[in-house]
Amino acid sequence: MKRILSGIQPSGKLHIGNYFGMMQAMIRHMDSSDLYVFIVDLHALTSVHDRDRLREGTLEAAADFLALGLDPDKCIFWVQSDVPEVCELTWMLSTLTPMGLLERCHSYKDKIAKNIPASHGLFSYPVLMAADILLYQAEVVPVGKDQKQHLEVARDIAIKFNNAFGETFVVPEPAISESTAIVPGLDGQKMSKSYGNTIPIFMDEKPLRKVIMSIQTDATPVDEPKDPDTCNLYALLKLFASPEKMEEVHGLYVNGGAAYGYLKQDLFELINEYFKSARARKKELLDNRDYLRQVLAKGAEKAREKASVTLDLARDRMGLKY
Ligand code: ADP
Ligand code: TRP
Repeated sequence: MKRILSGIQPSGKLHIGNYFGMMQAMIRHMDSSDLYVFIVDLHALTSVHDRDRLREGTLEAAADFLALGLDPDKCIFWVQSDVPEVCELTWMLSTLTPMGLLERCHSYKDKIAKNIPASHGLFSYPVLMAADILLYQAEVVPVGKDQKQHLEVARDIAIKFNNAFGETFVVPEPAISESTAIVPGLDGQKMSKSYGNTIPIFMDEKPLRKVIMSIQTDATPVDEPKDPDTCNLYALLKLFASPEKMEEVHGLYVNGGAAYGYLKQDLFELINEYFKSARARKKELLDNRDYLRQVLAKGAEKAREKASVTLDLARDRMGLKY
């Protein structure tokens, strides 16, 4: 069984990009892998300095995963900061991370371009992410395409450590599903919390309809042919509609007759139906926060056990045991 691991930041409402980019793959792997899923609150500190928002975001992210079907008895599910070993490993790894490796990271440059303060934590974000992955000896890491470079950093650091100190870490592989690598947002850019262009997974019916109606489309008249490959509405429909429905929609695009308003209504109905029962489950879970805390505490205990074995080995390899 492969050891599969991935994490998500509790920095805002989870959206369908997160769902198709990472959460769905993780939930699908539940029965066939040694699965590790966690909520990366230490990473979220690089952009959220509001105590209530972070707390609420963490519990909500936990409720999201469980509502969507993650079974905490079939995986290890925890909150990153509950395993402080990750911070020690981050420091150890950072002493062999070349500055140039971090300076090349697009994500850092994108974030400062979006006015996220350029803190040391934001710069060294990929080292903490490498520690997340290496601490649990993960073999496969399912992520969206935007995280590919961070995975390369984790691989580079693992290889560097193994070469310098002897075989210690598994070198992880990214798993990026081509069909959902980049889910477009309302404006056609990558859907992202930080672009304000998301469709949250668990939006109530009324606001969901409003958001979907606001998807940006071009001004081609209904009867004229349109290019499905450049249309964000088409890409979103493809995630939810059956192959038969998509065949019909494809015909309307290429031959003329695709009315964006009607297609948006179809998309609204599909998304609403897709997440309906999970939405109700999430409400129940958020009414029972003690249960959520219990699940996370149990997960942290299991994660910590695994983490301490790797940390002990890495400490020994580096000469921190005397
Ligand atoms: P955001 O960009 O909204 O802050 P995160 O950085 O928290 O999202 O991403 C969490 C996971 O969801 C990562 O694996 C990321 O690659 C994936 N993901 C985020 N947005 C998208 C998207 N638009 N398409 C595909 N995957 C995505
Ligand atoms: N950086 C990832 C993101 O923003 C989240 C993350 C942190 C992660 N640690 C991880 C993903 C370890 C996979 C494995 O999406």
